[in-house]
Parts: sequence; C-alpha cells; structure tokens
Amino acid sequence: MKTILVTGGAGYIGSHTLILLIEAGYNVVVFDNFSNSSIESVRRVEKIVDRAIEVVEGDIRSREDLDRVFKRYKIDAVIHFAGLKAVGESVSEPIKYYENNVYGTINLCKVMSENGCKSIVFSSSATVYGNPASNPIREDFPTGATNPYGRSKLFIEEILRDIFISDNSWRIVILRYFNPVGAYKSGVIGEDPADIPNNLMPFISQTAIGKREYLSVFGDDYDTHDGTGVRDYIHVMDLADGHVKALDKIDSFNRVMTINLGTGKGYSVLDMVKAFERASGVKIPYKIAPRRAGDIATCYADPSYAREILGWEAKRGIEEMCEDSWRWQSNNPNGYR
Ligand code: NAD
Ligand code: UFG
Repeated sequence: MKTILVTGGAGYIGSHTLILLIEAGYNVVVFDNFSNSSIESVRRVEKIVDRAIEVVEGDIRSREDLDRVFKRYKIDAVIHFAGLKAVGESVSEPIKYYENNVYGTINLCKVMSENGCKSIVFSSSATVYGNPASNPIREDFPTGATNPYGRSKLFIEEILRDIFISDNSWRIVILRYFNPVGAYKSGVIGEDPADIPNNLMPFISQTAIGKREYLSVFGDDYDTHDGTGVRDYIHVMDLADGHVKALDKIDSFNRVMTINLGTGKGYSVLDMVKAFERASGVKIPYKIAPRRAGDIATCYADPSYAREILGWEAKRGIEEMCEDSWRWQSNNPNGYR
C-alpha cells in the first residue's frame, strides 16, 4: 500500500481528495499548518471513511517540519495542495505569496529528493493561461499570469520542469484546475472561507443563507451570452478523482505531465445564480457592479488531454455542484466553526 503525503490536506480540495485516496486504497498522511483550514475538516473525513487519519502540523517552509514527517513515514508520493490562493492579497503582499508558495515548494522538493521520494502531483491553476486568445484552452496555449498568485504557480511549474531536466527519475504531474465548487455529497465537509469570500460560489451560498445581503455581479458588459463572466466550474469530487487517477498512473510517466482539469463547459455568473436558485429554492438578490480588476471574460478548458492520458473526465453538472454547495452551506452556516 502506497503512502501519500498530502500537503494542505485539511483545506478545501485536499480534504475532499483524502476521501477518494483512502477509498482507492492509499495510505495518507496530512501535512498542514492550518493557516487557512482547521483540523475539524480532517476529523469529519475520518467519520466519512470510518478510519483514523495521520495528521502532522507543519509548514512547508520549515525544513525541520518536513524532515520530521519524512523520517517518521515512508512516503511514496506527495500531492502538493499547500499554498496561499487569494489573488487580491497576493497583489498587496507578493513576498508572502512567493515565500509561501514558491520557497515552500522548493523546500518540499529538496526534502523529498533527500529522502528518495521523487513523485509529486502539483496543484496549478487555469490562472496561468492569463487572458487566453481563445476558448477552450489547451495545455499548449501560451502562459502568462496577471498577479503574484498566478506567477507563483507559473514559477513553480517551471521549477518542477527544471528539476525533471536535472534528474529524470522524478515523476511530476502538474494539474491545472479550472473553478472548483461543490462539496462532498453528505454535506459534512465543504469550502469554508475565513473571510468574505472572493470566489463566486461561496459568495452565492452565503447570500442564500442570509450572511450576505446581495451578490455583486462584477460586470455585465463582457462579450459573453449574457454579458457576465464565463468560467468552467468543476465539482470538487471530480477534481479529487483526477488526483487519484494521476497518482495511479504516475509511475508510468517519463516526462512532466501538465494536464487541465475542467469540464469543458462554460457558464456565466447569471447562469450560476439561476442554477443555485433552482437547487436551493432560495432567491439570490444581486446587483450589477463594475468589472473586477484582472478578471477576464471567458475561461474554459479543453479537457481532452486528461481523458486521453488519465482516462478521467468530469461527471457532475452544475445542478449537482449547486445542490452539494447548498447542502454544505445550509447544514453548516458557520463552516467548521
Ligand atoms: P485551501 O486554502 O482550502 O487549502 C490549502 C491548504 O494549505 C490549507 O489547509 C492551508 O492551511 C495549507 N497551507 C497553506 N500554506 C501552507 C504552508 N506553508 N505549510 C503547510 N500548509 C499550508 O485551498 P484549496 O482551494 O483547497 O486549494 C488547494 C490548492 O489548489 C492551492 O495550491 C491552490 O492554489 C490551488 N488551486 C485552488 C483553486 C480554487 O479555486 N480553490 C483553483 C486553482 C488552484
Ligand atoms: N464573480 C462575481 N461576484 C463575486 C465573485 C465572482 O461576479 O462576488 C464573478 C467573477 O467576476 C468571475 C466569476 O464570478 O466572472 C468567477 O469568479 P471567481 O472569483 O469565483 O473565480 P476566478 O475565475 O476569478 O478565479 C478562480 C480562483 C483563482 C484560480 C482561477 C482558475 O480564484 O485562484 O479560478 O482556477 F486561479
């Protein structure tokens, strides 16, 4: 049985991925500094899978913390979710983002290599495509980030490619996520933003439970079917499944694999509002607001490479994404608190 170190395993995507990893027969060790999560998510996953999960509190920027975990467990591969992800904060605090995301990843790779663990699945983002010339977006499209968060992802991708060039016994999978939403079916785990949500789906669901007065729709004059921004929303359990499929195949890859995880379908902000209203039966008040700086009109994946290489495709549609987000939000109005 392979043991997988899951950095950032207490976070939104990490906690959902734990379930499928365990169900697929992997042993997991969670490594998290809880800067944007709480142990409660892992405790709830333990109930779902009916098994205790090893958790190490530690920081990817700390050599000692990482050494401790690699000495204690024989780690076969790492899924590296740990990172900061707030785009606006990255603009005002770029050093924090480069230190946490880029330096933290360098540190992680160093300790992995010293311990003979050279398999990593890395969480990248569709943000690395910047403002794409066309849609759907294929993996060979030009990259270019518009903010320090996005650049931290691009830098890490390049560093991982250089590591492979220097030593091709590494096995590296870079997964570029589109817009993860939704929650595990039973509604006991989900996305739990610490502050006012930056992202659309948590803002909609907090508006639905009355925590927010109304949703600001950032721009209705984009060149899209209704003028509002179009994105490729992907259910977090489909995303989680992509990680398991990547791990299942990782030993067979003899080059760095860079793979989109999206559905291939684009929905507008207003499409999502309507779908959420249908799923929850709750009316979502909204107001049209100015465009948000840095936003693009349209972004959706060409997911065919993931199908070809991983045998993976997203199965869940926006109705299910909204139903599951709503179940989590309405059962846990204060998240894990
Ligand atoms: P999240 O904030 O819920 O999870 C990240 C986890 O990493 C948190 O538990 C946090 O405490 C932990 N962490 C952060 N810095 C750490 C450090 N220095 N040491 C140890 N742990 C640390 O975010 P998420 O939505 O689950 O995202 C997971 C990954 O996927 C991130 O790398 C993110 O950039 C990437 N990603 C997310 C999205 C999205 O929209 N959610 C989209 C594309 C890519
Ligand atoms: N939006 C609103 N109102 C809000 C929040 C968002 O109208 O309150 C709109 C945005 O303008 C955009 C769409 O909803 O058109 C989606 O916005 P999100 O903030 O949910 O997602 P983004 O596509 O801007 O970015 C997200 C993550 C990035 C990641 C990217 C691609 O925040 O970190 O997806 O994976 F890089």
